[in-house]
This record gives sequence, structure tokens and C-alpha cells, in this order.
Amino acid sequence: MSVVEERTRVGATVQGDVKDLNLAESGRARIAWAKSYMPVLTQINERFEETRPLRDVRIGACLHVTTETANLMLALQAGGAKLALCASNPLSTQDDVAAALCEYGIPTYSIKGEDHETYYRHIESVIATKPQMTMDDGCDLVTTLFTKHSDQLGDMLGGCEETTTGVIRLRAMEKEGVLPYPIVAVNNALTKHMFDNRYGTGQSTLDGIIRATNVLLAGRVVVVCGYGWCGRGIASRAAGLGAHVVVTEIDPRKAIEATMDGYHVMSIAEAAVIGDVFVTVTGNYHVIRGEHFKLMKDGAIVCNSGHFNDELDLDAIAEMALRKTQPREFVEQFELHDGRKVCILAQGRLINLAAGEGHPAAVMDMSFANQALCAVYLAQRHKELEKRVYDVPLEIDEEVAALKLSSLGISIDTLTPEQSKYMASWSEGT
Ligand code: ADE
Repeated sequence: MSVVEERTRVGATVQGDVKDLNLAESGRARIAWAKSYMPVLTQINERFEETRPLRDVRIGACLHVTTETANLMLALQAGGAKLALCASNPLSTQDDVAAALCEYGIPTYSIKGEDHETYYRHIESVIATKPQMTMDDGCDLVTTLFTKHSDQLGDMLGGCEETTTGVIRLRAMEKEGVLPYPIVAVNNALTKHMFDNRYGTGQSTLDGIIRATNVLLAGRVVVVCGYGWCGRGIASRAAGLGAHVVVTEIDPRKAIEATMDGYHVMSIAEAAVIGDVFVTVTGNYHVIRGEHFKLMKDGAIVCNSGHFNDELDLDAIAEMALRKTQPREFVEQFELHDGRKVCILAQGRLINLAAGEGHPAAVMDMSFANQALCAVYLAQRHKELEKRVYDVPLEIDEEVAALKLSSLGISIDTLTPEQSKYMASWSEGT
């Protein structure tokens, strides 16, 4: 079943399901603020206004509803797309932004703190608009379409996926031969993961932890579980704030990298004993479990910045605890039998978007420029594509980098003809 709610405001009918349309004014102001840090997306928006490359393409988006996402939606709208948006996480919605988007004529279905049933009802509302293209962050839209709306799959031109976890799920579908339409893995563009995953997650995760707890990190032991691009970013930012950083890994190559980057590497069981703050960013399941909670110090703070909320075994800590209190909005304190307290932040949901505002606009600028250009690529080239997961075309990745660099006022060198020839040859030796 899908529901399209209509809420009427003086003189205007808007579609969507948001907390409060009266928040729209604050949303508009904050969207404009974020735009001022998104020069690449702004240029693309202006180009789209002239060329309308997405004219009448119906796009269903399931993304974190933030000021940055709003600017992506407005760029796609400028390009002529017909949009509907829902949240890709129940806790990441900025309610004022959702309200403003409805008023901009983009049906938006998302409310911060929505329950599981509402979350999926909102995805259904987007699917009810009969999208021809999906834009996902975590792959929930694609899997819901695939499992519940196979009748709509024939109309699909393609989709874009924003995040590592989503790409992993889509590759699993591809491997099983059930990927329903071509997908561009936006996450895999260098101009996405090298910056968004590293500097974006690095800064926003620590911002989320600090906003949630006001903890001082200097001199504390921060344990980062997972040393992919996100883990690297969190580790370097935590070290920058004076923390002693411990990294845990399952991949020996990344473990060596973390060691040579200057961090202590050990197993989670060893880290559990000494850690003050724990962050999971592995994309995996039950990374911190009962056996680890048991070893933690009184006052340990545990959170997750990976896409899904199953990196922490929350049932285990709930079972182990005598009682639970909530001293601050995003902090739940579990008191264990011996009196020790372990704090879980934001119900194990991604701390950077639940307690913070997600990555800063300046980094989402490149991620969402890739999304916008890949949507055009799919609209123009879908007939040539198979039901596969594709990397972002190199020209798009390079164009985004060139636009960002120029917006920063930075110039770089180009190869001389002699150098180009040299790089293309094999005959020059010692
Ligand atoms: N993912 C991480 N940060 C984000 C942001 N600010 N907006 C949308 N998606 C995000």
C-alpha cells in the first residue's frame, strides 16, 4: 500500500509527509547557507536550468534529508526532473529542510525519529510516484522496488547509489543475477569516497560524538573499528584532537597501513579494556558484541558511524543491563550488574547524521555533483547499459574535480607534449 498525504497551507497544496510545514522558513535559510559552500553543484544547477537534461524524468530518491541533499534536489528539479524524496535513515532527517522541500514543490516523505513502519511507508510513497530512476543511499529503495514492485521494474532507466554499504548490497544482487536495472556506484568516484568518506565522515563523526556528549577527546583513547576511507578519516581527526587512537581491523593490509599511519592496532577484545570512546565504521554486523561490552571501562562511550545500526549488538547490551537511563538526547546509559555504565549514542544509528548534521556542504558538493551528472548520464545512455553495477565514468569524476579545483582558485600543471609522449611510451629505459 502506498499513501500520498496532502497537507494544505495557505494558498498552496504541497505533497509529502513532514513534521511541520511551519519549519519551512528555517529550512530555506539553511539550504541557501549550504548552497554557498556548494559551488560545483551551483554551476551544474545553472547549466541544468538552460539545458534541461532531465526534462520529465521521474526520479525517486532515498537520501538523508539534509540541506545538502536539498541542493541536489533543486539542481535536479532545475534540470527538469520530477522528484519524490524519502529518508534513507529514520534519524537523519532535518525536519525544517523536509518542510522547505515540500514548499519547493518536491514531495518529501520524512520525519526525524520516524519508526520502522513509517520509514517503509515513506519509501512506498516515493515508489507510488512511479520513478524511472532511483537515487539511493544504502539501497533500501532498490530492494523495496525489487521485492515488492516487480511490475514497475520494466520502466526503470537506471539508478545511482551513494554509499559503500549500498554498493556492497547491489554487487551482491548483481552476483546473484537479480540486479533489476543498471546502477552507477557514485560512491566509487574518487571525487566521492576520497573526500566525502574520509574528510566528511572524519569531521562529522567527531562532531556528532561531541554534540551528543560534549566529551573532551584530548588524552582519551578513541577506538576506531574499521580502517576503510571512513575509518582513516575518523582516526586522523581524533588524533588531531589529541586522542590516542586505536584501530581494529580484519584486513591485514589495512591493519599494516593503520600501524604505519601511527596508530595502535589490536583486536577489539584488547581495545575494549582500554577504550574511552568506540566508533564502528566497518559496514559489517555485530562488530561490538556482549563479550566486548563486558570488558569496557565505566563510562565508555560507544557509537556507530556506518550506514546501518547493526554494527553494535544492542540486544546484548540491553540484556546485560540492570537498568537504562537517558541523561542527554542522544545518550543511553546502560548500567551493568557491577555498577559500570556503558553509553550507547543515537541508538547505534549513524552518529554523524543523528546527532550532527552529516558531512559539511563543501564536501557533499562533489558527491552530489557526481549524483547530478550521473543522473544525466543514465538518462542519456541507459539504452547502452546492462543490468550491472557501473563505476562513475572517468570524464564525470575528472570534471567534478576540475570544477572543484577552479572554485577553490587553485591551478595545476598540464603535461607538456613531450611529457605526454613519454608517458605513453615504453621504449625509454635506464
Ligand atoms: N551523508 C553524509 N552526510 C550527508 C549530508 N550532509 N547530506 C546528505 N547525505 C549525507
